[in-house]
Amino acid sequence: MWQKTAELRGHLEEIEITKEQMDEYVKCSKDIFYFSKYFYILSDEGEIPIKLREYQDRIVKMLVAKYYDKNNDIRNNRIIMMGRQCGKTTIATLYILWYALFNNDKTIAVLANKEDQAKEIMLRIRSAILKLPLWLQQGINPDRGGWSKESIGFDNGTKIFCAASGSSAIRGKSVDLMLVDEFAFLPEEEAKDFIKSVFPTQSGRKDAMMILISTPHGMNEFYNIWMKAISGASSYVPAKIQWYEIPGRDEAWKKRMIRDFGIQMFQQEYACLTGEHKITVRSEEGIELTEPISKLYELWMDGFLR
Ligand SMILES: Nc1ncnc2c1ncn2[C@@H]1O[C@H](COP(=O)(O)OP(=O)(O)O)[C@@H](O)[C@H]1O
Ligand SMILES: [Mg+2]
Repeated sequence: MWQKTAELRGHLEEIEITKEQMDEYVKCSKDIFYFSKYFYILSDEGEIPIKLREYQDRIVKMLVAKYYDKNNDIRNNRIIMMGRQCGKTTIATLYILWYALFNNDKTIAVLANKEDQAKEIMLRIRSAILKLPLWLQQGINPDRGGWSKESIGFDNGTKIFCAASGSSAIRGKSVDLMLVDEFAFLPEEEAKDFIKSVFPTQSGRKDAMMILISTPHGMNEFYNIWMKAISGASSYVPAKIQWYEIPGRDEAWKKRMIRDFGIQMFQQEYACLTGEHKITVRSEEGIELTEPISKLYELWMDGFLR
């Protein structure tokens, strides 16, 4: 028991484990999908083991797969674009917890735009740990971060900590797995600064992994990384989830969202349209132009479209 929490394994606490549990532990360690049956989330029906949706399954597969480029260089980073409220952060927490439990001496950073959002992700990971049977847990290690709102330390030497993406806490730190949640919503200056100060040490490491997950938000740094990733010329492997892949989101839902929030908001934040998509614009004189969004953006910036 860790301090007064009966559901949590204490520091160096020995527990009895049956042969079946040992087999189960090994299966979980080898297979994140198998492990997911022990991973609880807060849903509309209360705390339940996650049942991965088809598109979540696809994302988890791409998180664990190994990718290489033409030169046989590993593509160890991921960029995932999805609409709002479709279980992005949830998948990231599943992957982080699985990675943390079964890898020794790793450092994992959970970053979000505001410290409170980062702490909320940590809270989800902590709630999921409390639901694990003790034989599947690691003892809590006070020397690796213990058990707090900001950090979790395990007896296997692995530590998870959280911070705001813009905070100095992560500058110059070497991290094995870094999640940056909703990166597209980081203010432009902070995003630029992040790329300048964190990417060179982090993105360049072949034995580390960076996961950027976000809803798109205009032609910003997230967009730039995305465009490079889809061209195949970067260490980022891209994945995109379409709005209609989410249960309950059909044409009627789309109509309602567009009525309430407008087409622009829908296309960007739910349909995840990016620069390569062609759209048609019509001038007041009735002249129509069909071009990729990125091209129209350039024309607009150059003053050709008003
Ligand atoms: N597979 C799933 N089954 C049921 N509920 C889910 C599933 N995945 C996520 N959720 C729930 O959906 C809600 C939104 O998930 P979240 O990960 O916060 O989405 P996002 O980060 O995309 O906004 C949360 O309450 C989460 O527990
Ligand atoms: Mg989220």
